[in-house]
Amino acid sequence: MTNESKKVLILLGSPRKKGNSAILAQEIAKGAEAAGARVESLYINGMDIKACQACWTCQKKDTKGCAIDDDMQSIFPKLIEADAWVIASPVHWFNVSTQTKLWLDRCFALTAYGKNPFRKKIGIAMSYGDTDPYTSGCINAIRSFQDSFRYVGAKIEGIVYGSALNAGDISQNTELLKEAEKLGEKLAR
Ligand SMILES: Cc1cc2nc3c(=O)[nH]c(=O)nc-3n(C[C@H](O)[C@H](O)[C@H](O)COP(=O)(O)O)c2cc1C
Repeated sequence: MTNESKKVLILLGSPRKKGNSAILAQEIAKGAEAAGARVESLYINGMDIKACQACWTCQKKDTKGCAIDDDMQSIFPKLIEADAWVIASPVHWFNVSTQTKLWLDRCFALTAYGKNPFRKKIGIAMSYGDTDPYTSGCINAIRSFQDSFRYVGAKIEGIVYGSALNAGDISQNTELLKEAEKLGEKLAR
């Protein structure tokens, strides 16, 4: 398989379209595109993604998938098609953003849409306002991702995270931006 055929899907989990996690995601996209991948970004805050209703329809024998009729119905095929996912989220109240969590919970239904739906490379990008990744809750959020993706058998290829409060502040951390770009290259391989 050539690099050209790799598809990277980015889930932007912040309400801030030009926020810090989105900037990190942009650098990941830059690296992935430079390595020949096709990249698509979804600003999930602007989408209709309802909370999982725990109906278990998606887990039933001969299921046709998730019973909730919202924008996840168009996201499921994109998730299945992609070779790699990037989840970009700010830390909100010591964990991932609510937008990110809504999306993550709904991935429970993915097994209904394709074989080995989690055989993906995963990249994580996070930003937080505190100066310390532990007290900010960033490590807590990362741990949530690690447990989730270990549970479904997906491989986290890399995690980039940094401190930045106001939208755009992360751009000053040029080393982190470079790290994000490199992660993009890795995801495209
Ligand atoms: C509702 C809300 C909750 C937040 N909670 C935390 C937090 O628990 N820990 C922290 O370090 N920063 C917190 N922040 C700051 C953001 O994590 C920080 O500004 C981050 O860079 C935002 O990323 P974004 O620009 O991609 O949205 C919070 C911000 C908001 C709006």
